[in-house]
Amino acid sequence: MPMSQTFCQRLFPVLPRITEHFGTPFHIFDEQGILDTGEKLKSDFRAVANFREFFAVKALPNPVILRIMRKLGFGLDCSSSSELVLARKNGFAPPDIMLTSNNTSIELLKLAVSNGGCILNLDDITMIDRVPAFPELICFRYNPGERRTGTQVIGNPIEAKYGVRHDQIIEAYRRAKKRGARRFGLHTMIISNQLDHNYMVETVRMLLNIIEMVSAAVEIRFEFFNIGGGIGIPYRPDDKQFDMHGLVKESAVLLRQFSLKHGYTPALFMECGRYITGPHGALVTRVINRMSKYREYVGVDASTMSANPRPAIYETAYHHITLLDLEGRPKHGNEEVVDVVGPLCENSDKFAKQRLLPKAEVGDIMVQHDTGAHSPAMGGNYNGWLRPQELILHTDGSIELIRRAETMADLFDTLKYEPKVLR
Ligand SMILES: Cc1ncc(COP(=O)(O)O)c(C=O)c1O
Repeated sequence: MPMSQTFCQRLFPVLPRITEHFGTPFHIFDEQGILDTGEKLKSDFRAVANFREFFAVKALPNPVILRIMRKLGFGLDCSSSSELVLARKNGFAPPDIMLTSNNTSIELLKLAVSNGGCILNLDDITMIDRVPAFPELICFRYNPGERRTGTQVIGNPIEAKYGVRHDQIIEAYRRAKKRGARRFGLHTMIISNQLDHNYMVETVRMLLNIIEMVSAAVEIRFEFFNIGGGIGIPYRPDDKQFDMHGLVKESAVLLRQFSLKHGYTPALFMECGRYITGPHGALVTRVINRMSKYREYVGVDASTMSANPRPAIYETAYHHITLLDLEGRPKHGNEEVVDVVGPLCENSDKFAKQRLLPKAEVGDIMVQHDTGAHSPAMGGNYNGWLRPQELILHTDGSIELIRRAETMADLFDTLKYEPKVLR
């Protein structure tokens, strides 16, 4: 199911008050829902020793959300200098931060090894010689190539720009050892929004096999392996829930077999973003126009590019929609097929295409579900549209602004600079 019933029950009755106080559009996140999902994940993984989640900052890079992750005992997965700085500023220590970057610059490598460092996850074999001060603990992102298939969002591993090739992986650890590494991890991330737990079980099996192969060739022991993020959420009403119990049960068996053979078990890490916060966010907009062209259009006061680019970028992306009347009651019946659009001069600026919805009227509140991950985070300023404010519904029922709406002044700030001309 899209957005949990409990979030809907908490949110809908107070939405008219929130929209009156804060105005629209806004993203709102549900602290209770995020905490419940985080606690459930830890409890699901009780059977796996030393399990740890490193929340993917790129999914929802807001300091208040990151502090919830710290409260849950999670680490963070960062992919850029800004995310690394955000993690450090919010109290995450070196062992709590994993850096998985791509096409990495020297500047980022320098930042990664400064301030006590972090868990450095190298994405290419050439990076080994570029790390300025080689850390004791090192990890590599493995790309299995033709051995696995991917999805539309992430692509097939053989076409992906990420990771160390299969035929390079032993050499990578050999060289890292030569540069002084003494502690080792292995990582992969080859799937996105995957609802079939069997795929992730295969990833566990694949990484344990690689650990076995590399350990034998290079005489090293692995402290951890990280199966990445990419666990899906049921965006569509008829999507099934990911079977986390199935993944844990089958991973525990594989780890036990590994332990019997090798006398130890590496810790299992994960770096989910979407699974943790995706269902616990909503984009709240107001219907500002009804337009009839060759299709029926419902126009809202936000654009896909600034508020939630997913439906504009990914053909298969779907966000469930609830229309509410002025009293905050979900509308039912009197349905029609419409496209829900923003104001961009881009025909891809559609939150929903040919969607069956109750008849929308100007002034209605429209709630777009499951925007808690990779939604506001992907937003930009095309056509000069501004990114909406972000709110959180706290466990005590209070609602707090956690990111103000972007202003024109923010947009024009980069146009203020010292004159610089090269003749
Ligand atoms: C390296 C890496 N880890 C983790 C994630 C998080 O993925 P998800 O939010 O689908 O779990 C991503 C997403 O792009 C990623 O690139």
